[in-house]
Amino acid sequence: MAPRFHPLEVTDIRRETRDAVVLTLTPTAEAAAAFDFTQGQYLTFRRDFDGTELRRSYSICAGKDEGCLKVGIKRVDGGAFSTFANQDLKVGDTLDAMPPMGKFFAPIDPATAKTYLGFAGGSGITPLLSIIKTVLGREPEATFTLVYANRQINSIMFREELEDLKNIYLGRFSVIHILESEGQEIDLFTGRVDAEKLDNLFRLWIDAETVDTAFICGPEPMMLTIAESLRQHGLDDSQIKFELFASSQPGRTAKRAATRQDATTGNVCDVTVTLDGATRKFQMPKDGTAVLDAAIQNQMDAPFSCKAGVCSTCRAKVLEGEVEMVINHALEDYEVKAGYVLSCQCIPISDKVVLTYDE
Ligand code: FES
Repeated sequence: MAPRFHPLEVTDIRRETRDAVVLTLTPTAEAAAAFDFTQGQYLTFRRDFDGTELRRSYSICAGKDEGCLKVGIKRVDGGAFSTFANQDLKVGDTLDAMPPMGKFFAPIDPATAKTYLGFAGGSGITPLLSIIKTVLGREPEATFTLVYANRQINSIMFREELEDLKNIYLGRFSVIHILESEGQEIDLFTGRVDAEKLDNLFRLWIDAETVDTAFICGPEPMMLTIAESLRQHGLDDSQIKFELFASSQPGRTAKRAATRQDATTGNVCDVTVTLDGATRKFQMPKDGTAVLDAAIQNQMDAPFSCKAGVCSTCRAKVLEGEVEMVINHALEDYEVKAGYVLSCQCIPISDKVVLTYDE
């Protein structure tokens, strides 16, 4: 079944920094099981702004053992949802959200003694905080080093909570704050997280050889630099986990796979879509329109969030026909081989496409 929205009551709002809040959310009793998250996952919210529905995803910042659902929302300039959450939202209000999604986690195994390394940039700390609390609480032998990049000290989200965690998990948890525009006692901890700084961190502070799993969440350029450095220092791709923020994406590109379309005959595609057990047929133009948009135009309530190829909410399986995916930051190679696509990025190439959201 495709994911559906449920109402969540806002039961607490805590101001984290000048431009970030942490919301505590409570599902209805019937939906409680659907919101039993895994550390590192996110929620997708929807809300109507002046007649336009916006969908935005925010990561859960609670650990598995906190017994509540919390998300961190940092206000971005011009961001309608994040501004609303920071300025107008009140305790007692209701937000519509899809159940938790995302694969930004490693399975918990209390019997192991793993060494974890995390890199967070700005609000990229949110899913990492959930992972850190869960891992340290549930794997008694695990150690975690967090490298956390921010512009300046007062923009650091969860600063006090991270300090508390250092005290609770003495010797098992350490944080290196890198501040872009504020000098620190140690020069290495000032400036941008670039390849040179990472080299020095791995030379002087972090023993990459001992790291079992690394988590990275932040702006895309920073993430790519960190992943490359980790590879150079001996980690393989299976040890590196990413969470890309949809907001760091430019959005769906207007330019489509025009050249490939020349190879086919018609200008329209006959599409058959199955969603929640119901199958509908419609025609859509082969002008670069995504199958998701065509399905929505045809009154199908197809699931989506980022529309940027990042979140995988719109995942579907192509049963027949040929499509091209413009951007894919979410599906693994084995899923693509098995026929799964991000329908928000999926352009028909053949004259007939059969696709399902139900598998
Ligand atoms: Fe996020 Fe398609 S809606 S990947």
